[in-house]
Amino acid sequence: MSTQVPQVADGERLERPLRAGVIGLGWAGQQHMAAYDDLPGVELVAIAGMEDGPRAELGEKYGIERLYRDATELVADSGLDVVSIAVPTFLHAPIAVAALDAGIHVLSEKPIARTAAEARTMVDAAHRSGRVLEVAFNHRRRGDIQALKAAIDDGRIGRPYHARAIWLRRAGIPALGSWFTNREMAGGGPLIDIGVHVLDYALHLFGEPRVVAVSAVTHAELGVRGRGGSTSSKQHVGSAYEVEDLASLLLRLEGGGSIVIETSWAAYRPAGDEFGITLYGTEGGADLRVVDYAPSGELTIFTGEGEQSQDISVTADPGRGHLAVVETFLEHVADPANWSNWDGSLALDRARVIDAAYESARIGAEVRLPPTP
Ligand SMILES: NC(=O)c1ccc[n+]([C@@H]2O[C@H](COP(=O)([O-])OP(=O)(O)OC[C@H]3O[C@@H](n4cnc5c(N)ncnc54)[C@H](O)[C@@H]3O)[C@@H](O)[C@H]2O)c1
Repeated sequence: MSTQVPQVADGERLERPLRAGVIGLGWAGQQHMAAYDDLPGVELVAIAGMEDGPRAELGEKYGIERLYRDATELVADSGLDVVSIAVPTFLHAPIAVAALDAGIHVLSEKPIARTAAEARTMVDAAHRSGRVLEVAFNHRRRGDIQALKAAIDDGRIGRPYHARAIWLRRAGIPALGSWFTNREMAGGGPLIDIGVHVLDYALHLFGEPRVVAVSAVTHAELGVRGRGGSTSSKQHVGSAYEVEDLASLLLRLEGGGSIVIETSWAAYRPAGDEFGITLYGTEGGADLRVVDYAPSGELTIFTGEGEQSQDISVTADPGRGHLAVVETFLEHVADPANWSNWDGSLALDRARVIDAAYESARIGAEVRLPPTP
């Protein structure tokens, strides 16, 4: 894929690089900064975040003069064409709506927002402003997920009809006491945080079928007792542990397919972090297992019958993660005729499924999902 980014804003070709800003100085924000710094046709000109030390250091690293403490100042005053939002989830919607209404194209971190209702305000703002709204689903851009997608697309697996997709951690609560564990700020626990990636890559692999019903359970057993915390450095807000630490979902798909998703931040299981998918199709199957953030996981494709049966081990290149996400966003920004195609509605659909899962867990019954209004 070309990395050339033609410079276009407001439907007009610009004679200058796009001006980009990044809000949030944590791991996620730094991925966006590195990508803008790497890619041609765009210049990182402003960053915002509340930590004075990291803000100054990142400003120096990227040679940025416009350094802001708060997102609102950055949106109001830096003359941006594009902005990445990598802040606690409760701030995604208000910041995205303000930026879109100011004519700035938005790349938000996942999850799009705490709820589908909030996500809807973002999609509405994209429509109102005519600007691009996208959400960073970087795990579907992994090389191993893309290799599995290619195996499905070229017919080796036939029609996928069932999968079990997981992201499970032994002790990976992203910092006890951080905003991640605060229901009001995060909207939920591992389901909305890492489960949304699993939901995204599973539905992507299945070819984006509509989810017609969700049955889910959630459990909060370890975090509430101060167990299962990781050592990662996240914005600390002194929160109690208010969210689930494990969730399990059964999705029924239009056309009869099904996906089981299991996700945990903390559970008594082998140490470390594991994610992947086991997928069954009419002509074959596949198993992808990624342990401890390996850049490329173990992918096996199963085909054939009897003596013809084969277990094919596939070696995939590591994907380019956020670099690929940011690059695609900029390609979409460079294509004004199609801005209306990139309005955040895929991420809104993901939020509707997550909402339905939390509702199902709350009421103890399956929740049916009508088509997106
Ligand atoms: N795609 C991925 O793989 C991935 C990985 C990690 C996090 N994320 C997402 O990125 C977002 C941030 O997560 P993180 O792990 O970097 O969190 P973090 O706690 O490490 O960082 C949050 C940052 O937001 C800043 N912030 C908070 N309020 C602000 C405001 N009003 N104005 C400006 N800055 C403000 C904080 O100062 C901090 O720099 C979340 O939505 C998270 O779900 C995505």
